[in-house]
Amino acid sequence: MHESNEDNITEAVLGRVRGASDPRVRTISEALVRHLHAFIREVEPTEAEWEAGIRFLTRTGHMCSATRQEFILLSDTLGVSMLVDAINHRVSAGATETTIFGPFYVPPPEFPNGADISGHFSGSPLYISGTIRNVDGAPLAAAIVDVWHSDAEGFYDLQKLDQHPDHAGRGRFRTDTSGSFRLWTVRPTAYPIPNDGPVGQMLSAQGRHPYRPEHVHFMIQAPGYRKLVTHIFAAGDPYLDSDAVFGVKDSLIRTYQGHIGGLALDGRTMSGPWFSLHQDFSIEPSA
Ligand code: BEZ
Ligand code: FE
Repeated sequence: MHESNEDNITEAVLGRVRGASDPRVRTISEALVRHLHAFIREVEPTEAEWEAGIRFLTRTGHMCSATRQEFILLSDTLGVSMLVDAINHRVSAGATETTIFGPFYVPPPEFPNGADISGHFSGSPLYISGTIRNVDGAPLAAAIVDVWHSDAEGFYDLQKLDQHPDHAGRGRFRTDTSGSFRLWTVRPTAYPIPNDGPVGQMLSAQGRHPYRPEHVHFMIQAPGYRKLVTHIFAAGDPYLDSDAVFGVKDSLIRTYQGHIGGLALDGRTMSGPWFSLHQDFSIEPSA
């Protein structure tokens, strides 16, 4: 068969990629061709629409830099990142659920338990504490707990490096002999994902807002256990049902408890409004 036409071109391309010697390359290539051709057959794009699609992907690539990954943002906003996460983290009963990693992690500075990581951030004080356990409930000492979050205006420290070169709102803690960690910071807020590029244009063309509900990120690591990447979302946030990147899970929503003055759990005397968040995490053994 020399000629390819609308009816036989899918089979012709599948025939070529079936020669891949690596079985995984073959599976992925075949699925890619089948689904891509099915997409085109369903949409029947005009040539102008096809060129617009190519230009969109080109702009997405040009937007990428050492500090901006527009393709991951595209994957996030199309729900692909959370689908990959769900497939790879079918956690067993009792383990804390995972969610999206996001673009704002860098290895954080290490702090002793009880330290304040707010740095140059301002906002309402927030005391975060918790215990890391295995799925049988045993506390895990010396687990690494990385915490990161936005400021009260919705910006991560990495987004304001020109104004403040120092880290803020991020830190690494190690659990004590009872498996617990604790820290002070300031309360973050809901914020828009970076939306000044092609992904932002896509969201507005689709009639979508770019906001994520208020959350604090956690990454927990202990030898012999699977790394846990998750967030704790603030109960009552107006964006819990419409997170731009589909990261919310009911089991990860908690009340950030409000207080006025008084004594904090670590004995600190407080004045004015402040918040506390207590969250225990359960991690699974590595396979
Ligand atoms: C974040 O939570 O930091 C985030 C996740 C996905 C896209 C953008 C930001
Ligand atoms: Fe975030």
